[in-house]
Amino acid sequence: MLNFLKRTRDSKKSSDTAISAKDDIMKGTIPSHIAIIMDGNGRWANKRSLPRMAGHHEGMKVVRKITKLANELGVQALTLYAFSTENWKRPKIEVDFLMKLPEEFLATYLPELVEKNVQVRVMGDKDRLPRHTLSAVNKAIKETEKNTGLILNFALNYGSRTEIIQAIKKIADDAKEHKLNIDQIDESVLSDYLMTNALQDPDLLIRTSGEIRLSNFMLWQLAYTELWFTDVLWPDFKEVDFLQAIADYQQRGRRFGGI
Ligand code: FPP
Repeated sequence: MLNFLKRTRDSKKSSDTAISAKDDIMKGTIPSHIAIIMDGNGRWANKRSLPRMAGHHEGMKVVRKITKLANELGVQALTLYAFSTENWKRPKIEVDFLMKLPEEFLATYLPELVEKNVQVRVMGDKDRLPRHTLSAVNKAIKETEKNTGLILNFALNYGSRTEIIQAIKKIADDAKEHKLNIDQIDESVLSDYLMTNALQDPDLLIRTSGEIRLSNFMLWQLAYTELWFTDVLWPDFKEVDFLQAIADYQQRGRRFGGI
């Protein structure tokens, strides 16, 4: 089945293939938490002589497709790296566009997310988000808070090192106020102080566009995660690619340091 998926990703039949591959994949272990570094939007646009923003816009449509499929597969959490703490270095016009995307996405798809029982969450430093972005995501969080299906977790103005530093500061404060004993601090305590405290660590990380690095994304949480890289640019990422990543994951032997 795996080779079959590989051969057909470019064919017009790729969505039919995805449907049949999906049934097979659902017989295996579905990763509970999948994290994605959605990379390659700019290169996708450059290849077409389009502004970079066109790539981000196309990438937004892929978010909808992959969210829908993840939900159908029974994935419990999907964390998407939508804007990093380092992305502020980009030209203002691009930052402004990226900050409008959650609004546009939610204006279009929130009713569908509500109907499909998806829970929208956001992790990152919300203080620096423009008011319009914050109010769109807060509305989505509120409208989906009673849902029980897939957790769609947007990493927005997120950086893993900042997250870890914030956690350490909070732990130090709590220790100072005797809410926490220093001897008690272990991996699970640190995990509880991270922005992902309500989620289990990702089982699978996908990065598109051929870059093989983590770019300050969930450095603590990815310690035992299976990593999957593809040359496909995010706006070209299809259901068959997502299924391929899961099919490959299902072939891996996870030992968590054991034998
Ligand atoms: C990296 O590609 C991508 C981003 C910084 C933004 C990712 C955002 C989306 C895919 C849309 C998010 C949608 C919602 C709903 C929030 P890049 O621009 O670095 O690409 P390049 O490496 O080819 O230049």
